[in-house]
Amino acid sequence: MEVLNNNIYPIFDKMLLREDKETLLNQRSVMVWFTGLSGSGKSTLAIALERELHKRGLLCKLLDGDNVRTGINNNLGFSDEDRAENTRRISEIGKLFIDSGVITLAAFISPNNQMREIAANIVGKDDFLEIYISTPIEVCEERDVKGLYAKARRGEIADFTGVTSPFEVPEHPALDLDTSKYSVEQSMEQLLKLILPKISK
Ligand code: ADX
Repeated sequence: MEVLNNNIYPIFDKMLLREDKETLLNQRSVMVWFTGLSGSGKSTLAIALERELHKRGLLCKLLDGDNVRTGINNNLGFSDEDRAENTRRISEIGKLFIDSGVITLAAFISPNNQMREIAANIVGKDDFLEIYISTPIEVCEERDVKGLYAKARRGEIADFTGVTSPFEVPEHPALDLDTSKYSVEQSMEQLLKLILPKISK
């Protein structure tokens, strides 16, 4: 038996495979990774996509920034280091779902290429679909659903993405959606066109 280090003996070779789970569920799993500014529409589209796929008999799991940060990542803040660790844990958790055949949707700011690279490498590039929600900051700020942009402008939140912390535009997203131009229905149409062929058995 292969011994890695510290007396750890992985048993991956004895476990049921991802394909066994995908066959059971009659679907192919994939990671749909939404990236974009706070207020850009990531969660709204991820929620709508999960509902639509669920209606079509497909099993999904949605991981969302604010939710995950109240649980497993409640000890992390918004420094570069903490955001990278946030991304690493979400990606490892996402991989567990993907390995169980579940279509996984992740909605996190993931503000730079390095973080999105971490995610793609952990999940596996072939299973990773990067969706850039490119809604301009002016629109996100005008929406200010959570009131956080106003707080950040008043200096009450440190390292706020787009205000006092950078957001790096993704280089080669699988899809770019600006929610100030498209309705949820129009965005959903584009998402389904991209995703359905990849998850259908
Ligand atoms: S990420 O950068 O590490 O990917 P994540 O998506 O998990 O961020 O969390 C972003 C959410 O945390 C935002 O939608 C917002 O509600 C909240 N938040 C609190 N402080 C900040 C901050 N300094 N920068 C960005 N988002 C923040």
